[in-house]
Amino acid sequence: ALVSLRQLLDHAAEHGYGIPAFNVNNLEQIQAIMQAASSTDSPVILQASAGARKYAGEAFLRRLVEAAIESYPDIPVCMHQDHGASPAVCQASIRSGFSSVMMDGSLMADMKTPSSYEYNVAVTRQVADMAHCVGVSVEGELGCLGSLESGQAGEEDGSGAQGVLSHEQLLTDPQQAADFVARTGVDALAIAIGTSHGAYKFTRKPTGDILAIDRIRAIHERIPTTHLVMHGSSSVPQEWLDIIRNHGGDIRETYGVPVEEICEGIKNGVRKINIDTDIRLAMTGAMRRSMMQDTAEFDPRKFFKEATAAARQICQERFEAFGCAGRA
Ligand code: G3H
Ligand code: 13P
Ligand code: NA
Ligand code: ZN
Repeated sequence: ALVSLRQLLDHAAEHGYGIPAFNVNNLEQIQAIMQAASSTDSPVILQASAGARKYAGEAFLRRLVEAAIESYPDIPVCMHQDHGASPAVCQASIRSGFSSVMMDGSLMADMKTPSSYEYNVAVTRQVADMAHCVGVSVEGELGCLGSLESGQAGEEDGSGAQGVLSHEQLLTDPQQAADFVARTGVDALAIAIGTSHGAYKFTRKPTGDILAIDRIRAIHERIPTTHLVMHGSSSVPQEWLDIIRNHGGDIRETYGVPVEEICEGIKNGVRKINIDTDIRLAMTGAMRRSMMQDTAEFDPRKFFKEATAAARQICQERFEAFGCAGRA
C-alpha cells in the first residue's frame, strides 16, 4: 500500500531504526528494491529525482510504482520526490500521486546570506501548506552538504561557486534547524553532517569519524519529532569498485560512508538514509562483468538480470543493517 513518509518515519522513530531511501529510475531498480524488501519484510521508500523523471518520464515512473504496489500488497511503500527545486515541481509530483516531496530550498539558497535562509523558509512553508492539505509529507533541507575531509561541497551544491567551505559552514546549525522546523512545519529535515553526494566522497579510507555525531545529537534534541534525513549515504563498496575496474571500468580511488557509521547516526536520530550511488555501482559492475564473461550473449535481459541481483543484494544488506528488516 502507498503510505506517507511521516507514517513510515514515525514508526521508525518509535522503534529506533532507519529506513534506506533508494533512488529509482527504471524497472530493474524498482524490482530489485521490492524483491529485497519482500525477502526481508521491510518498508520501502522509493525516491525519484528530477533526473529520474526526465529519464523515465512521469507516466512511466508513476505506473512502475503502481505496479510495485500491486505486486507486493503487504509492503508499505512511500513514493518520494527527491530534491524538488521549486514549489511548482513539488505540486506536479503531488498531482502525479507521490506521497512525499522534498522541497530543497537550499539548492537555490546561498546559506551565507540571511535572505537566502528566508527564501528557503518561504518556499518550504508554501510546499508544506500545499502538501499537508492532501496528506502528503514534506522533507526540507538546511545546510550545505559537503565532505568535512575536503571542505568541498557536494556535486549539487555549487562547489565551484562556493569554493572550499569551513567546517562550520558544512554543518547544519541546531538553533537554525529549530527555527526552520517551527516556521515550515516539515515532517523531515535533511541535514549537513559531513556527507556529500556521488561516488567521490572521501579520498582516504574513513577511520570512524566521518559523521558529525555530536551535531546529529544536538539537532535531534532541538527537533525531536522532525525526522532527520541523511543524504549522500552511499558506502561505495570497494568490492564493486574492483569488479568495475577489473572489467574495463575506470574509477579513481574513493571511499563512502561506512555502514557502521550510518548505524551510529541512526542511534542518534537519523531516520531516512538516501542511497543512489551504491546501486549505480553494483549495477554497473554486474553488467560489465556479465558482458565481459559472456561475450556471445546479446539478450540484454541477461545483463539486466545480473544488475537487478546485484542491486537487490545491496538493498537487502542496508535493510538488515539499518534495523528495517521485519518492520513492514
Ligand atoms: O541526489 C541526487 C541523486 O543521487 C539523484 O541523482 O539527479 O542524477 O538522478 P540524479
Ligand atoms: P549517494 O550519492 O551517496 O548515493 O546519495 C544519494 C542522495 O542523497 C539522493 O538524494
Ligand atoms: Na544544500
Ligand atoms: Zn540528496
